[in-house]
Amino acid sequence: MKALLFFAFAIVHISHSTAGKSYFGTYDQVSSGFGHHFVGFEGYTDKIVDSLDYFCRSDAVYRLEKLPMKLLRVLSLTSCGITELADDAFEKVADSLEELNLSGSMIREFPDLSKFTKLTKLVLNHYLIGDFLDEMSRRNESIGIKHLELANTGLTELTKSSFSRFKNLKTLDISYNPNLRIAPDAFSSLNLENLNMNANGLTTLPLEVFNSIPTLTTLSLNGNKFVKLPQNGFESLPNLTFLSLKFNRLENLSIDAFNGLNSLKHLDLSHNRFTDLQPGIFDNLTRLETLDLSHNALTKIQTKSFSQINNWSRILLNNNQIDEISQNALPPLEKVKTLINLGSNKLTTLAIDSFLPLENSTEVRRYNGEDDFKIILSGNQLICNKKLAWLVKSYQPRPDPHQPDENFLSLMTSLKGKKYVRMLPPIDDPTCTAPEVYADNKLVEIQFE
Ligand SMILES: *[C@@H]1O[C@H](CO)[C@@H](O)[C@H](O)[C@H]1NC(C)=O
Ligand SMILES: *[C@@H]1O[C@H](CO)[C@@H](O)[C@H](O)[C@H]1NC(C)=O
Ligand SMILES: *[C@@H]1O[C@H](CO)[C@@H](O)[C@H](O)[C@H]1NC(C)=O
Ligand SMILES: *[C@@H]1O[C@H](CO)[C@@H](O)[C@H](O)[C@H]1NC(C)=O
Ligand SMILES: *[C@@H]1O[C@H](CO)[C@@H](O)[C@H](O)[C@H]1NC(C)=O
Ligand SMILES: *[C@@H]1O[C@H](CO)[C@@H](O)[C@H](O)[C@H]1NC(C)=O
Ligand SMILES: *[C@@H]1O[C@H](CO)[C@@H](O)[C@H](O)[C@H]1NC(C)=O
Repeated sequence: MKALLFFAFAIVHISHSTAGKSYFGTYDQVSSGFGHHFVGFEGYTDKIVDSLDYFCRSDAVYRLEKLPMKLLRVLSLTSCGITELADDAFEKVADSLEELNLSGSMIREFPDLSKFTKLTKLVLNHYLIGDFLDEMSRRNESIGIKHLELANTGLTELTKSSFSRFKNLKTLDISYNPNLRIAPDAFSSLNLENLNMNANGLTTLPLEVFNSIPTLTTLSLNGNKFVKLPQNGFESLPNLTFLSLKFNRLENLSIDAFNGLNSLKHLDLSHNRFTDLQPGIFDNLTRLETLDLSHNALTKIQTKSFSQINNWSRILLNNNQIDEISQNALPPLEKVKTLINLGSNKLTTLAIDSFLPLENSTEVRRYNGEDDFKIILSGNQLICNKKLAWLVKSYQPRPDPHQPDENFLSLMTSLKGKKYVRMLPPIDDPTCTAPEVYADNKLVEIQFE
């Protein structure tokens, strides 16, 4: 037996039942030395514990003995390197556990989950060895778990039977399993909504897998090895609202890469290798609100790259190599709710006609200070001449409706009777690179005639 001394932190919420009332107390155990197994829980014998959050600071060899609580709702025993569970470890609490986090354990055999009648969330990330899913699938009763995390567990194969007992599963994390093979029907008996497949070593989209999960609403495919995406690759996912493809190797997209994503609101394509974007590529994503194209190698934005979308919230184009934005390349300023980030590029200017004009110039009302809208331009090489005057002229301090000053009152007067006005775009605080007379000056402080 190894002699071990290590430090652990535990935060425990205990609810005492007194005359029908219960309250929660917090017990901190700091710097307790423990031996071969968790002796520390004996103090909770027959207690009603709402949540116990126990984080071991160094890996160790542990056997988890019978938990002595009468009721235990949430248990988190993480980074403890537990290798063994006593047969009766969860006997007393299986009926009351709702959430169980055993990340950083090395358990080869797992108790029968069907005894955990209330368990909805099970987290077994990091170093769980072996055949957990096989073992589960050999049993018969269905399992009520809705949320299952199996990230970085060395999973190599998912088959039709892997999740056959998890009838209620909605959220599944199988990220960081780089040698994983997934059978096309692995999820077919589920109504999955959230799937995390980050860093699964994928080089192509698993189209057949997607075909079987039309219920999906969020999908994360970050850190894989995609160089391109197939045409219509996501068309079987009509309810997807969130798609993330960060940290891949994407260079170019076919015009119909995102066809069928009729519900998509958030698309993250940051940290890829795009040099160019074909106009029209986002046109069918009519519900799109946020688009992240930051940290790519884009050099220009072509005309009508973002034209058909009406409900923009954020467009992130920062940290590229953009030195050219064509006329009408960007969406109408009035249609972006919060942010256009053009920071850290190679822009020398930003022309007003880079933004599409509103078809109906009386359509949208907005004035400086009305909302959180901002254009970010810092980190470029701005030449501060009259081409930028439109940005500066319209720059005004934010009027405070609770402290109406003259500016505010005259603004309100000018709005009177008018249904709509042109917006005034607030910008961040970029500095000028040229001409020399303005070098290092703040753009917004320059008085253009
Ligand atoms: C599980 O525990 C780990 C380590 O303490 C923590 O980082 C993670 O957020 C927990 N997961 C959930 C879903 O509670
Ligand atoms: C599961 O059910 C099948 C038949 O439906 C039966 O043959 C098998 O023995 C059962 N297995 C267990 C572990 O109960
Ligand atoms: C998509 O969402 C709608 C509305 O929530 C729902 O009625 C429909 O069944 C979902 N489709 C699929 C394939 O899950
Ligand atoms: C991207 O692909 C399209 C066709 O799908 C092609 O017309 C275009 O030239 C490609 N762009 C680059 C930079 O390879
Ligand atoms: C957009 O969707 C329509 C209808 O589904 C389709 O005909 C068209 O080709 C799509 N456009 C692009 C650019 O893929
Ligand atoms: C537009 O986006 C906002 C969030 O930014 C959302 O609340 C609203 O429902 C969206 N409107 C439409 C018509 O999709
Ligand atoms: C533009 O506004 C006019 C008058 O308000 C309206 O009749 C017309 O339908 C609008 N056009 C578009 C394309 O929204």
